[in-house]
Amino acid sequence: MKMEYPNVPADIVESESFRLDVCAGLRQQQRSIPPKYFYDAQGSALFEQICETTEYYPTRTETAILDQYSVEMMGLIGQSCALVEFGCGSAVKTPLLMRHLDSSAACVLIDICKPQLEQTEARLVAQFPNIEILAVCADYTQLEALPLPISCDLRPVIFFPGSTIGNYTPEEAQHLLRKAAKLIGPNGSMLIGVDCKKDPAVLNAAYNDKAGLTKAFNLNLLARMERELGAEIEPDGFTHYAFYNPVPGRVEMHLVSRFDQVIRISGEEFWIGAGEIIHTENSYKYRPDEFQDLAKSAGWHSEIFWTDANKFFSIHLLRVS
Ligand code: AVJ
Repeated sequence: MKMEYPNVPADIVESESFRLDVCAGLRQQQRSIPPKYFYDAQGSALFEQICETTEYYPTRTETAILDQYSVEMMGLIGQSCALVEFGCGSAVKTPLLMRHLDSSAACVLIDICKPQLEQTEARLVAQFPNIEILAVCADYTQLEALPLPISCDLRPVIFFPGSTIGNYTPEEAQHLLRKAAKLIGPNGSMLIGVDCKKDPAVLNAAYNDKAGLTKAFNLNLLARMERELGAEIEPDGFTHYAFYNPVPGRVEMHLVSRFDQVIRISGEEFWIGAGEIIHTENSYKYRPDEFQDLAKSAGWHSEIFWTDANKFFSIHLLRVS
């Protein structure tokens, strides 16, 4: 069942924020662009394809863990709950939980990519006609209140899969988790997917797939700047560069300038020398106990976590404590 929710602005994401964030990011000494801007229609489609590659193990692994343990998970969470998914994308994993919900349950889908969100909502509404489904186009970090259906007295649970939490530095992640705890209230819980530390060779392969999809995903950010901001960028001016840095425990993704060049956006010029970088993404990896400590420092109690046989990926059940 499709829900209308009048109290939430239809579109919290303003296109103007893209221009402001890109320009601010390029003005810095250490140039960077927030990874949330990867996800326009093209970028979201590329990410879906990355998830299908043999090298990119997280999606497949997390899905298998969910499939195997969803009964146990929903038993602990309760089948009558309000599931709030942060950054749902195509929500391929959500049905693995939704299949155990009872008809009083509700499901709130939050994503910044509107075309994909609408498609996902339509698919889930058709698949689960008895569950209230609400789609909110927003950046989940900007939420000041949980977009729950009005007078929802269901126990709220945040579903935050995909190791999206890895896109934030540990300090930012702590801040986001703290904010989420406040948002969800003392009754709330969270089911969160976290990618684990592992052999750097596995990680490097996952972000440098042979088909070149991760490269295309990274370069699409420049194409999006051209499309939406009218940015002038040298064709083939940048290369994809991604590697695991074991010191901070993160995969870093960069765009490396192939020669001295200038990017023009709205009359502003950004001079970028050969070999200089634009940092486009961090993807932090956590041992389960490291993540439990992080959650604890943000006001969450880690009840239990599930993992796969290789210990490649973890799903934690957190409670507000
Ligand atoms: C969806 C943010 C978890 O960091 O692994 C995939 C995005 N970037 N390949 C990740 C991504 C490059 C992905 N997250």
